Amino acid sequence: MPKGDINMNIKKVKVTEVGPRDGFQSEKTILNTNDKIDVINNLIDAGFPRIEVSSFVSPKAIPQLADAATILENVKRNHETTLAALVPNARGALRAVDAKLDEIVVFLSASESHNKKNVNRSVKDSLLGFKEIADIAGKNNIPIQGDIATAFGCPFEGNVSAKRLAKISKEYKMMGFKGVTLGDTTGMATPTVVTEAVNAIRDMVPDFDITLHFHNTRGIGFANVMTGLNLGITDYESCFGGMGGCPFAPNATGNICSEDLIYLLHEMGIETGINLDQLINIAKKVENLVGHRLPGQVMRAGPRLLKYSMQDVPTAIGA
Ligand code: COA
Ligand code: ZN
Repeated sequence: MPKGDINMNIKKVKVTEVGPRDGFQSEKTILNTNDKIDVINNLIDAGFPRIEVSSFVSPKAIPQLADAATILENVKRNHETTLAALVPNARGALRAVDAKLDEIVVFLSASESHNKKNVNRSVKDSLLGFKEIADIAGKNNIPIQGDIATAFGCPFEGNVSAKRLAKISKEYKMMGFKGVTLGDTTGMATPTVVTEAVNAIRDMVPDFDITLHFHNTRGIGFANVMTGLNLGITDYESCFGGMGGCPFAPNATGNICSEDLIYLLHEMGIETGINLDQLINIAKKVENLVGHRLPGQVMRAGPRLLKYSMQDVPTAIGA
């Protein structure tokens, strides 16, 4: 049996809502800034410990997130919720400092070809650039989380080796990052691949926090979460309504859905501090804002013990 295979003693899980970043970047229409601020305020009220609120990337690359600074200036902050955002370069880091961001998220892709598509440089150059970002962040006491996109497979190159993830994680640890997030950009993760990745990182970089960020592109996002829980991973990222996706990857579809994840965790007796009813309302509100149906399921079916009136459902006699 692989190392660390059974671990269901988890009592608490930290869920990051990435909707305002991963979700809104994937929409063709650009949402109104006030609507985004309202959604983020609702997420804070619902009890999320961490939210990816936007990205300080080039507005030419992601015009949907060009209003990151205005968002940070206007959301109702509290000490319980960490507000994080993606930063691609020193310019982004300076913008993040100005906006008083709580946490910088740097990102590269495990595969050269997706890194080139997404940030227009080699992985080596991305890592060099992170040193500049770390310098700016360090001077301003802003912690950094390191994301690895296409961690479980690349739509251009195929398999990504677990050893490569471990080596990048080691670089992240040496630069003083808080932890590594493994991003499943086009939903290529499987329980086997996730187990190999987590074990390889733990072997090479002990005592380094691992966060899992799955997309449900092939319908096994929650099987991957169960695998993560079995491995003892307590940090996950998800998106309201199951929206999301990278504009620079083919067939990128939604993240695992936050309401569905919170429902699953709570039903297993795992605490998250997040109010599921409030979250379902947020997903419905976002669905109205974007104007199309979202793939989330619990937002439609409601919680497991929701009861219906017998009178409202036809009986299959003489129909
Ligand atoms: N914030 C605002 N503007 C920025 C910026 C930042 N962090 N970084 C670069 N720019 C601007 C530059 O000023 C330049 O503008 P100009 O044409 O008016 O002079 C333009 O963007 C291009 O900058 P350049 O340094 O030549 O970068 P590039 O074209 O090689 O693009 C990135 C590199 C990283 C800036 C760009 O690819 C990017 O922002 N990618 C993000 C992708 C992403 O978020 N993907 C989804 C998440 S997985
Ligand atoms: Zn994603």
